Amino acid sequence: MKIVALLWLVGFTAAVTIVDSGLASACMYYINQFEWDCATSSHGSACLFTNVNYMGSVAHCIMSEGNSQGEIDHAYVHITKRAMLKGNVEVLVAQVEAYAENATAYLRAPPTNVSEVLYSPVSVDEAAFVVYRESFKQILHHVFKTTWFGWGLVFFWLVLLVLLTVENALWTFWHASLMPATVGKAVQKHLLPVTFVFGLSRLDLVIMAVYVVQTVVCTAVSYTVSLPNVYINDVYFLTLDLIGYRSGIISFSLMPVAYIFGIRNNPFCILTGLPQAVFIKYHKFVALIMSLEALVHSAVWTAYAIHDAGLTVYQALNYWQWGIVGTVVLFVMIGQSPRFIRNHMYETFLVLHKVLGCVFIVAMWYHCIGFGWMGWIYSLIAITVYDRVVRFFKIFFINRGYTQITVNVVDDKICKFVIPKSELHDVFYKPGSHIYISFYHTPIWYTFYQSHPFTIISSPVTSGDSIIVYARIKKGITGKLGKLKTDSCGNVEMWLLIDGPYGGGVETFGESEQLVGIAGGLGLSALLPQFYASPKGAVLHWVTRNLADIDYLAADLDYLRARGTDVRVYVTNTLEKSVLTEEKLKYVSVVSDRPDVDQWVAEAQAEGLAFNKKDIYLYCCGPGHMDNDVLKSVCERTDIALAQRLHYRSQNFQW
Ligand SMILES: Cc1cc2nc3c(=O)[nH]c(=O)nc-3n(C[C@H](O)[C@H](O)[C@H](O)COP(=O)(O)OP(=O)(O)OC[C@H]3O[C@@H](n4cnc5c(N)ncnc54)[C@H](O)[C@@H]3O)c2cc1C
Ligand SMILES: *[C@@H]1O[C@H](CO)[C@@H](O)[C@H](O)[C@H]1NC(C)=O
Repeated sequence: MKIVALLWLVGFTAAVTIVDSGLASACMYYINQFEWDCATSSHGSACLFTNVNYMGSVAHCIMSEGNSQGEIDHAYVHITKRAMLKGNVEVLVAQVEAYAENATAYLRAPPTNVSEVLYSPVSVDEAAFVVYRESFKQILHHVFKTTWFGWGLVFFWLVLLVLLTVENALWTFWHASLMPATVGKAVQKHLLPVTFVFGLSRLDLVIMAVYVVQTVVCTAVSYTVSLPNVYINDVYFLTLDLIGYRSGIISFSLMPVAYIFGIRNNPFCILTGLPQAVFIKYHKFVALIMSLEALVHSAVWTAYAIHDAGLTVYQALNYWQWGIVGTVVLFVMIGQSPRFIRNHMYETFLVLHKVLGCVFIVAMWYHCIGFGWMGWIYSLIAITVYDRVVRFFKIFFINRGYTQITVNVVDDKICKFVIPKSELHDVFYKPGSHIYISFYHTPIWYTFYQSHPFTIISSPVTSGDSIIVYARIKKGITGKLGKLKTDSCGNVEMWLLIDGPYGGGVETFGESEQLVGIAGGLGLSALLPQFYASPKGAVLHWVTRNLADIDYLAADLDYLRARGTDVRVYVTNTLEKSVLTEEKLKYVSVVSDRPDVDQWVAEAQAEGLAFNKKDIYLYCCGPGHMDNDVLKSVCERTDIALAQRLHYRSQNFQW
């Protein structure tokens, strides 16, 4: 029993390193070497923290060895925290001060034989104390370094985001850029092409590679320790301990980055003008690095524990168990995130992902509550709460809560939602925004917790007080909508909660600028707002499989054509040619093969040269490879020597 208690004590002191007050730690370690009549107690720590002689010695050591009042006060506070954490003993700072004062009158010199049981406070032997002071100075210096390594990995993203924000502002207000035009074009030509690695661009890979290098360097360098060290007097263990701290703190520094990149109301979407899909990409990347650091942290401490007091001793400790929960949760989250799983069961993925995200916060809370670093955990809570509050505001204030709408099941492929605009719609929404919809309809009541993104169309053709959403019927909730019982016109009334707006905004173009659109299927919805804003002289290519698509968008296409857009529709279904009216044949052609988008880019470039257009904006949104084909063509056709420039603008925001 005694041995177990002792082991427990050893294990606990070793694990809960003191990386907060070097002075307090040095004093405690110095005083701990003596015998305080607590060896037989089954609550060793509690016994020590209530022993007036022990506390008097420690407090007096702090008072006499501290270099400044600030350092001394900090050390006193540290003692009160230790007493609570290790012994569950409540001591006030004033009491520690009183211990120090009172001990002065009772001090004796430290015994030569450390196993002598002491019944009065001891003074500090200056010569012997030097090594204690130096040992913790070293440890503290390591922690200080590690903290800055961690911040460095946060600053990496901050710098990148600041640059992107400045670039976005320059472009939005003055059509200017931080990069000279030739550099911009070179980047576009050589770094924007998509690679075979997870569909990432070369630019993505460069950014990620630089970051990986920074992380590896920050995790691996600068572990010089000098012995003797009273904390751990063994190079191997001391280094293990420091690696454990380094990887843990780096992992912590990445937590807020991973969280903020993942939330719906990511403020950087607004600042940089980049779609959420880009941030989700980096959310995955940062989360992966963070989890690997957490794994290193866990592995190193496990190795440490095995060689120290043994795993069983550590496994009994709360913070240890929560640490295991945290690391396991991270890898469960990664394991359930690959695309094929998401595509199969998106909703299950999403719900589990959010629940585990919260479990992780709880686990980290209990993992660290006694050690510090809680600021990082508060930041996670703040980010999560902020997202929920903004969502609540958007749902119940901007979009006035529950809204009754009409869903029109057009055919087995498309549903059309007509949503009356809220009073605040025009204040908050920009053209091209998207919203998240939750359905509250009795026959599909069990889907109420889901929230699906859709692009809204504020069409100038239809009435001004409603917005339209076209939803492609897929397998999940949209499949269920397609099977609902409707009236004879295909309509069904239901209630919704709408969360929005997200994204959006359109560009305006000058005389020397040309707008070209390339859309596939329903992707056209995402391009329409941009074309409504500047229809004159624009060219719009739209590939679609069925004629019905043209019917329900015919009014919008006519609107654009009447205002000077060159609309060209391609139907990839030869069977349907016969039903085309003469009017439609003016802009619809039936093709047997999927059209070659590169040809359209080439044409836009040639026409641009002929009509003196310096900048050509290629807006695209289509299924599958279509966007990548446009991008590939834009990159290949970018000519650095030419004054003309092609701009690729994907409106496909799926992740
Ligand atoms: C910014 C944005 C705008 C969009 N605009 C439109 C639009 O105007 N018209 C349209 O038809 N579709 C649009 N989509 C796609 C639309 O959100 C999905 O097709 C729809 O959620 C599928 O629902 P489901 O349950 O029937 O799909 P399922 O058949 O269950 O899943 C099909 C795929 O849809 C995606 N998906 C499913 N649920 C979600 C979700 N909650 N959040 C994000 N993606 C999800 C997943 O990639 C999944 O693999 C948009 C998507 C995004 C991200
Ligand atoms: C002062 O210190 C001595 C020696 O540690 C102790 O016996 C005594 O109880 C203390 N007095 C107070 C008031 O704490």
